[in-house]
Amino acid sequence: MAKDFSSMEDSNRSANASIHDLSDPARRVVLRGGLGLATVGLLAPLAACAGMASTGPRIGFKSIPASAADTLVVPEGYVAQVLAPWGEAVGVAGAMPAFRGDASNSAAEQTLQMGMHHDGIHFYALDGGRRGLLVMNHEYTDDGLLHPDGMKTWTLEKVRKAQAAHGVSVIEVELQDGRWLMVRPSPWARRYTANTPFALAGPAAGHSLMKTAADPAGRTVLGTLNNCAAGKTPWGTYLSGEENFRFYFAGGEQLDAHQKRWGLPKAAFFRWPEHDERFDATKHPNEFNRFGWVVEIDPMDPTGTPVKRTALGRAAHEGAWVAVTRDGRAVVYSGEDARFEYIYKFVSRDKISPGGAKANRELLDHGTLYVARFDADGTGRWLPLVHNDGTGQGPLTAANGFADQGEVVIKARQAGDLLGATKMDRPEWLAIDQARGEVFCSLTNNSARGRDGNPGPDPANPRANNVMGQVIRWKEAGDFDSTTMRWNHLLLAGDPANARPEAQGNIKGDIFACPDGLMFDARGVLWIQTDAAATELNKGEFRNMGNNQMLACDPASGEIRRFLTGPVNCEITGATQTPDGTTMFVNIQHPGETPSERSNPDEPTRYSTWPHGARPRSATVAIRRVDGGVIGT
Ligand code: FEO
Ligand code: CA
Ligand code: CA
Repeated sequence: MAKDFSSMEDSNRSANASIHDLSDPARRVVLRGGLGLATVGLLAPLAACAGMASTGPRIGFKSIPASAADTLVVPEGYVAQVLAPWGEAVGVAGAMPAFRGDASNSAAEQTLQMGMHHDGIHFYALDGGRRGLLVMNHEYTDDGLLHPDGMKTWTLEKVRKAQAAHGVSVIEVELQDGRWLMVRPSPWARRYTANTPFALAGPAAGHSLMKTAADPAGRTVLGTLNNCAAGKTPWGTYLSGEENFRFYFAGGEQLDAHQKRWGLPKAAFFRWPEHDERFDATKHPNEFNRFGWVVEIDPMDPTGTPVKRTALGRAAHEGAWVAVTRDGRAVVYSGEDARFEYIYKFVSRDKISPGGAKANRELLDHGTLYVARFDADGTGRWLPLVHNDGTGQGPLTAANGFADQGEVVIKARQAGDLLGATKMDRPEWLAIDQARGEVFCSLTNNSARGRDGNPGPDPANPRANNVMGQVIRWKEAGDFDSTTMRWNHLLLAGDPANARPEAQGNIKGDIFACPDGLMFDARGVLWIQTDAAATELNKGEFRNMGNNQMLACDPASGEIRRFLTGPVNCEITGATQTPDGTTMFVNIQHPGETPSERSNPDEPTRYSTWPHGARPRSATVAIRRVDGGVIGT
């Protein structure tokens, strides 16, 4: 989600110490002096301090220049093909409404079509990989483009259409003569929307804070919202993060401390409560607690009920990504994309069972949730978010506002505050190098750092007015379940030509800003996708960077090469490959996004006409080499 810097959530007013307060006085002086020496020691390759090999994968393509054009560009020798844009019928037999270019499809039709604003995506191979399922998120809607007259008349039908354009799509695709096609109809094709029933599982299921008038048992929620990034589990399921769910709710004038900590606004940006009372938190306060979870979907089970896994904690989850310990337990990493919020991990109690999704249906319901603290000496700690009933340890007690583990996960932010977690610069995607035991996290930006009484720079978040973002990485001490780690930065994004030191960065190779999507391919290339806001692109400190883009990084050397540039005002987000590495699917979100709140329905093509020379539509692109070789080699 590209957000104007002014509208990004900034709700953490907790008093837990920032690590610059914990570091020694001499170091504090350096940090207050600006970027300078503060990060030098932290930028040494992690491999060097860990004694690991420092050779990385070969990146073989010729990098492309930055671009401000309204087109998608890939390197010489590559082709990109548009697939499954917003509004395309997903392929339910007997129910495949055609997209109408004036956006006049009904809400009912939208429930059968690709949602808006494609985001996290994964490929699930069938028949060896030339056929498969693509599962992808639809993060949010631009109601200026979703309806013929935008929000000029705001009706229940429009709310229902917007709800249907959210959620997740499952489509079947097949490679035929070098081109990927949607298989339609397909028995796999389906949509999950903001009105699909989801089961609650884990410690918050059935909790008093989860009960509503419509669901007195507190065990079934209608819908998933603002699904941003996505992870693929080793047991074959899809994990999707419910990110900025607060934008859908109205809290009115009297917000309590819990609602304030979670950024509940007085009025809902998306204006759903005007026609759907469920999102009016003055009438249904607990509905707000039922979002902000990681949801698990089994792509191979079209009739199964998807599940919200509450043991992983409630947060403005960007997404969730799974590592595996040597003894076979799952470790799920997650961050929350909001200013000064936290990074989490969950360690499963049980080992992953052979036998796929059905054999692991309760794996993510039992385990230990942790929140990260990054210390100034380059080490870090995972602090357990575990309820203390009086017989255990730690401050998460009833006296401190946590009646049980259900309340701990529902109020994970407050629990992290109490434990002294590190306030980060908007944690977005994580990527796991399973073989090397390293984890990478993009911290996309935080222009509020050091401003208006907010925490100043610290070693992990070393720049004030951080508009450029950075990628942090850590190596767990021992295995992925460790409670200690060592960390440093892979890179600080920026442009060396900028006058302001905090905007220069230290990129080795092609410059970019605002890292967001991260993913490792099978060869160990770290792919980085960017999401700079339409209000910033191609001017000021971003003048040399072009449109949002995708780059390849050798994590051993730090070398960066630009691989793809997107059309005007899009963000690049989500990527997945076929098992043989010869196709990469990448999502292009919100081409033509307006720098103001919503597109003007009278000028739908003002900023972009991608991909078809008309009303802009988010879409997947399938990228292949002309010679059929492995992407990136
Ligand atoms: Fe949905 Fe954090 O981007
Ligand atoms: Ca983003
Ligand atoms: Ca994102």
